[in-house]
Amino acid sequence: MPKNKKFSKYFKEYKVSNISAMIRNNSSAPRICTEDFKGRLVVITGVTSGIGYWTARKYASHGASLLCINRNTEKSEAVCREIREEFGVKCDYLIADLSSLKEIHRVAGELLELDSPIDVLIHNAGIYLTKREVTPEGIEKVLAVHYLASFIINFILRLKLKSQGRAEWLINQSRI
Ligand SMILES: NC(=O)c1ccc[n+]([C@@H]2O[C@H](COP(=O)([O-])OP(=O)(O)OC[C@H]3O[C@@H](n4cnc5c(N)ncnc54)[C@H](OP(=O)(O)O)[C@@H]3O)[C@@H](O)[C@H]2O)c1
Repeated sequence: MPKNKKFSKYFKEYKVSNISAMIRNNSSAPRICTEDFKGRLVVITGVTSGIGYWTARKYASHGASLLCINRNTEKSEAVCREIREEFGVKCDYLIADLSSLKEIHRVAGELLELDSPIDVLIHNAGIYLTKREVTPEGIEKVLAVHYLASFIINFILRLKLKSQGRAEWLINQSRI
């Protein structure tokens, strides 16, 4: 396909309002959060690297208590130790492989049983696969980690989050 035809194909798919919002955002100064998160609990999935790791550190730097949901115990120990030492906040973790429906339900149940309210819930854990992979439960892996995990956890927690009246939850853009 010629280059200009390719461009017009994609251009048609974008809404002009989105493009102008993107241009406006790129030229405006970044909004810096100054909010104090002391006494608030932030739950984040996939904190052992990348965006989840830096997001956890950011909330910790604002005084939040963290509860990380990761699949690897050693990495979780290391990251929580680092955050506790550096920011002096509470940092705990739960272990769950979010590609497994059984583990998603188990960890959602554990979150439901928490005594403390959840103030922020961030579904960050994700994978990038170049080949289709199917879990032992017969589910395509990206679907399980990116969509089913977020959906099931939100569904199980929805009444707790609503009744607290103080929660906000974020879903990574890649799953909207
Ligand atoms: N980076 C980008 O440019 C970009 C762009 C668009 C969207 N995103 C999305 O942003 C999120 C974070 O991306 P990233 O670049 O920071 O990725 P990353 O560095 O690879 O980190 C992914 C995190 O998710 C965890 N994870 C993966 N599979 C898991 C599973 N089955 N159960 C539990 N945890 C699991 C990983 O744990 P392990 O350490 O155990 O592997 C890691 O902590 C992902 O959802 C990704 O799709 C990223």
